[in-house]
Amino acid sequence: EQAEKNGYDHFMLKEIHEQPTALQKTMTGRFNKEQKSVEFDELQWSTQQVEQWDKITIVACGTAYHAGLIGKHVIEELTRIPVDVEVASEFRYRRPIVNEKTLVIVVSQSGETADTLAALRQSQHLGAQVLAITNVVGSSIAREADKVLLTMAGPEIAVASTKAYTTQVLTFYLLGIYLAERKQSISKEYQDQLLESIAEIPNKMEEILEHSSSIRWYSESIKDANSVFFIGRGVDFPVSLEGSLKLKEISYIHSEAYAAGELKHGTLALIEEGTPIIALITQEEVSEKMLGNIKEVKARGAQVLGIAGEEKMNIWEYVDECCYIPNTLSIMTPLLTVIPLQLISYYTSLALGNDVDKPRNLAKSVTVE
Ligand code: G6P
Repeated sequence: EQAEKNGYDHFMLKEIHEQPTALQKTMTGRFNKEQKSVEFDELQWSTQQVEQWDKITIVACGTAYHAGLIGKHVIEELTRIPVDVEVASEFRYRRPIVNEKTLVIVVSQSGETADTLAALRQSQHLGAQVLAITNVVGSSIAREADKVLLTMAGPEIAVASTKAYTTQVLTFYLLGIYLAERKQSISKEYQDQLLESIAEIPNKMEEILEHSSSIRWYSESIKDANSVFFIGRGVDFPVSLEGSLKLKEISYIHSEAYAAGELKHGTLALIEEGTPIIALITQEEVSEKMLGNIKEVKARGAQVLGIAGEEKMNIWEYVDECCYIPNTLSIMTPLLTVIPLQLISYYTSLALGNDVDKPRNLAKSVTVE
């Protein structure tokens, strides 16, 4: 086992560091560099085919569900096709509105999650075409889906998912561009920009990882907290959900993520002197609103760590601590902001002496209900 960890103390840390390579592998063969377009040999969908879908429903569990929430943001933004995202265990026990005009996308690292597999079968039964995004060739979900996009993350051992998640998110960006190209819903210039910025993501992730020790001290400051809150707006919100889940899974600290505008509707009552808040501030259109929310929580004594793009040097004035990510297109930040969040949960778990790779009560794959 030690050899498989490749010199890292835990599989989770190894897998966090494997993300730039995993992303690179997931892109390989799917970029047509000359034409600056996305090609999926696995799909071969025509414009006519894409136009037959009047909505997309994404179904998944856990971390894969969070990847789906980013997928919704990206696909709606690029294609204007309406997208629903549902937790598989809810979807399967109601009468979902899914038919031949719906593209259902199931997302599953293992390809074996019982609820997600049941949702796939139910969707097919209702006449929908099912596309699976999965990491395991030959898994039940890969075998039963109509089409499959494989994430090339390689085996993921740690229970807390990291590289499988970022390759799922990347696949949604590629799929969004692929669908947009067929629908002609974005300009060629914007498409070029998106692809250029995707191609730069692995190096930018590498940059964050090189400075990862700078995040370690922060974990010391939250390890004894009763609760940690994550806030964000726009696409920062689903990333906050993922950051919060990671922290819960392996540090056992209670944490919650909120769309920052919702603070006033309840969570603000929980903020007291010293409550740690991790605020994602990468979305320019709502950054003033975020700064307003930060002022509100600071006024109640919260200790705020801000995560923002390098161009936002002025956030120092608003927060107690800052962590900068390299600049990228605003839609693309989820692939970068999640890295410090993964590291915070890893180092907090480590500081508490928990079993990082095998947290109590949790399983890597939930194959029974
Ligand atoms: C378990 C794992 C999570 C994972 C979820 C869905 O809860 O611990 O890391 O996100 O199942 O798994 P899947 O294999 O379907 O992505």
